[in-house]
Amino acid sequence: MNADVLIIGSGVAALQLAKKLRQDLNVIILTKSTVKNGNSYMAQGGIAAALGVNDHPSKHYMDTLEAGRFHNDSDAVLSLTSEAPSLIKELNQEGCLFDMDSEGAFALGMEGAHSESRIVHGGGDSTGKTVIDFMLSNKNQNVRIMENVLVFQLLINETEGSCIGVKGKDSNGVIHRFISSHVVLATGGCGQLYEYTSNADSVTGDGIALAYRAGAEIADMEFIQFHPTLLYKDGKALGLISEAVRGEGGRLVTEDGRPVMAGLHPLGDLAPRHVVSQAIFHSLEKGKSVFLDISSIENFKSRFPTITKICEQNGVDLSIGKIPVSPGSHFLMGGIKTDLLGRTSIPGLYAIGEAACTGVHGANRLASNSLLEGLYLGKRLAEWINGQPSSDPAKGLTFPETAFRCQVKESLPSVEEIKLRMMKNAGIIKTKEGLLDQLAWLKGCKIEEWIKAELDDLSIEEATRAFMLIAAYLITNAAVRRTESRGGHFRQDYPFESHEWLGKRIIQSRKSEKGGKYEQIKAAIAT
Ligand code: SIN
Repeated sequence: MNADVLIIGSGVAALQLAKKLRQDLNVIILTKSTVKNGNSYMAQGGIAAALGVNDHPSKHYMDTLEAGRFHNDSDAVLSLTSEAPSLIKELNQEGCLFDMDSEGAFALGMEGAHSESRIVHGGGDSTGKTVIDFMLSNKNQNVRIMENVLVFQLLINETEGSCIGVKGKDSNGVIHRFISSHVVLATGGCGQLYEYTSNADSVTGDGIALAYRAGAEIADMEFIQFHPTLLYKDGKALGLISEAVRGEGGRLVTEDGRPVMAGLHPLGDLAPRHVVSQAIFHSLEKGKSVFLDISSIENFKSRFPTITKICEQNGVDLSIGKIPVSPGSHFLMGGIKTDLLGRTSIPGLYAIGEAACTGVHGANRLASNSLLEGLYLGKRLAEWINGQPSSDPAKGLTFPETAFRCQVKESLPSVEEIKLRMMKNAGIIKTKEGLLDQLAWLKGCKIEEWIKAELDDLSIEEATRAFMLIAAYLITNAAVRRTESRGGHFRQDYPFESHEWLGKRIIQSRKSEKGGKYEQIKAAIAT
């Protein structure tokens, strides 16, 4: 099959790209599951944008850098935060309904590490569903969605070094070849590599593994964000409890009522996510359960209908006012390295959304910046592709049909083993010993061969496990090399990022910069 633009994945970045592409282009979206089974659809928390009367993109910019521990690409952050208000207004004008206050302005919520209320929500705590449903019901005629196709190989023109399409397998095991001048990976991150996660079951690092196998540059894989509050019952993580709950006054307490965050960070319960996650992790390690005390939140059930449903489905009685929580993997800051148009190091191959590493998130993503990044990059890439001449990338090329045999199938570990080992050795708190143990295990699973192996004769489930193994390797390898603690990457053997010290320094620098740096950034944005 041929397409002008081939998009792999069906989250907010993918659908925004499809919506903004010229309508004379033939666009195919391939998704390995169903179109609504993804992280964007499940996103409870909203979209950050400086829309409040006292807010300004310069403040959003500073908050993003602070959460990202200044590992961010500051030009990218400036561009993202400046564009945010108009992206929201544009989507709203197109007909996407966000929550409004009694005056008819956007109802703006608060989340961790934000200095202002700037989170736009849809349907209370179902923002992702609101946006995706809107985009699907307004899909252009030139866009065709094919579900249940796993892309397992990128096709590279060896002479030109460019990406010219993909090979995918459908649920009947039939292999299809798709040819396109623009192949876009919008496959999300790799949350399912961990035992505890907020992510949809489809989020297994596929795009990153595909890109790496094809020789694309990958960056910052050691920076994994663990969300502090997943519903935790009987040793299992059962769904996200949005940070917006703490934004509305929810407090983290131990089973004996002690506030978990007391004295740990100036922002308390709304400190950056890695700080809160580590505090909860330490408490759980000592055998002390942690709860989110929601007793002070009025109208909890109507404000948080999705969370109410998750709790009720899992037998958590909200009238007691306490939700048991544990941290779990939530977001990958790294990924396939791209510029601010989504272009990777391979011509013809692009990445957008969580699969991409544009540098906006640095070492830790600020809450509600991810749907925003999807909207931002989807639109920018569309504008760029819309200006490109059409071409036939496979002209003159032949594709011999070869029956490959994968030589290393037996070395693939189970999904459970990958998840348990990643949580233990490359999780919230990492040590050199744990990481080296993980690398040795990956070598034993013949990781070097999996990076090159032909995957044609693997089932969808086996190919997915191979991708998980490759993503696990990229995370572990990067984590071994980063001998410091920073944002989502915490090494117990290099605990240089003292939270108390860093928190104080950030607050101080923020105060002293208010008259200086803020004004400079404001002026830069204004021009
Ligand atoms: C949340 O609602 O806590 C998650 C939002 C996000 O990750 O940005």
